[in-house]
Amino acid sequence: MAFWNRRKAIGLEDVAQEHRLKATLSWPHLIALGVGAIIGTGILTLIGVGAGKAGPAVIVSFAVAGLICAFAALAYAEMATMIPASGSAYTYTYVVLGEALAWIIGWSLILEYSLVVSAVAVGWSGYAAPLLEAWAGVPMSLMQGPELGGLINLPAIFIIAVVAGLLIVGTKESATLNAVLVLVKLVALIVFVAVALPYFNAANLDPFMPFGFPKSGPAGAEVGVMAAAAIIFFAFYGFDAIATAAEETKNPSRDLAIGIVGSMVACVVIYMGVAVAAVGALSYTQFSNSPEPLALILRQLDQPAAATYLGVTAVVALPTVILAFFYGQSRIFFVMARDGLLPQSLARISSRGSPVRITLFTAAIVGVIAGLVPLEDIAALANAGTLAAFIAVSVCMLVMRVRAPDAIRKFRTPLAWPVGIGAVLGCLYLFFSLPLKTQEYFLLWNVLGVVVYLLYGMRKSRLAGQ
Ligand code: ALA
Repeated sequence: MAFWNRRKAIGLEDVAQEHRLKATLSWPHLIALGVGAIIGTGILTLIGVGAGKAGPAVIVSFAVAGLICAFAALAYAEMATMIPASGSAYTYTYVVLGEALAWIIGWSLILEYSLVVSAVAVGWSGYAAPLLEAWAGVPMSLMQGPELGGLINLPAIFIIAVVAGLLIVGTKESATLNAVLVLVKLVALIVFVAVALPYFNAANLDPFMPFGFPKSGPAGAEVGVMAAAAIIFFAFYGFDAIATAAEETKNPSRDLAIGIVGSMVACVVIYMGVAVAAVGALSYTQFSNSPEPLALILRQLDQPAAATYLGVTAVVALPTVILAFFYGQSRIFFVMARDGLLPQSLARISSRGSPVRITLFTAAIVGVIAGLVPLEDIAALANAGTLAAFIAVSVCMLVMRVRAPDAIRKFRTPLAWPVGIGAVLGCLYLFFSLPLKTQEYFLLWNVLGVVVYLLYGMRKSRLAGQ
């Protein structure tokens, strides 16, 4: 069979036992993993960037990005329950569309997961830095990247090192700790809405859409509701990190659908509340450039205790997001290496069941990026990788509906065709609403990926010669 069309069979029977991951997770773990991965720097920090691009209409940006993400989440749930094996979009694409496209999606997922780790570490630092300055006298120049006039973002590097250590200790411990911290994070957002909403002033929403709807403006300074939605999109994903845990789930066919759809719905509801409360309470111009916009809003409303509470919560709970994506990243690497598309030596797992080498390798790279690159740029490129994966999963769902209409689906997407096509078109629209620079970097990343595949994976694939 031609290499681009080589398709992986569904099932794990052909995987040697020492390369299997332990099945330790069930749906409460997965919802915790999902909400833990979704609520993070997107709502806490990028809401400011989005408001700077869309004005008060950032509320609309949230709705658009959330709707598109919800469509893709449904496709994910269907595919994850049909193919409950590690690797999420990469594995579905391998089974449905063949190896060449699967490689491109896997390569995009590596970009997504790595850059989300970096972006959230920078977001964490945004909330941690004022506290560290006030309480420990740490100079700001060591806590901000060059774009904010600092030298290097040391707190971002620090938190990446801590989370890498947690992962090396083992999955189960990390997932349980994650569940506790997710609750803390949810309470903080509810407190934000409860405190800020009474200050709602309709005058803050006027003019509602100062920069128009479609992306506009010069390259490097793109604005508009869709330009904001393309960044805000970051706030909504993370449920795909659940799908990458499929192989470690005790009852994947039921638990994955509950985990993915449940965590998505919960987050859309909470975000809309936070967005309305934020732009209603204070003019967006006052918080759009802040590295800790929600805390700043509370301070401006003369609620310093609530602001400190939110800041501390972000510091305590944002590492759950880093954890979930780091986890997803190491497993994507693991699965691709197991398939022979990346060096097998990377797939080696320790006696505690975690892939130590990949975790350390990833930590080094994402640490450098977090230390030096602006948050908005990192998040935009992470979004590009995610959008590619979402498109692939939606296409896979539709192709399988044609190719195997009667196959057992533990979760069936309602209105599969409108939802699937809506997800594909919506993701494409978001992709082209990203900054031009981001689109170019994404193209470059994929050119590099194709070279790696031609030099390595094409010949080393476990399916080569079959
Ligand atoms: N959705 C995740 C966040 O907002 C990536 O941080």
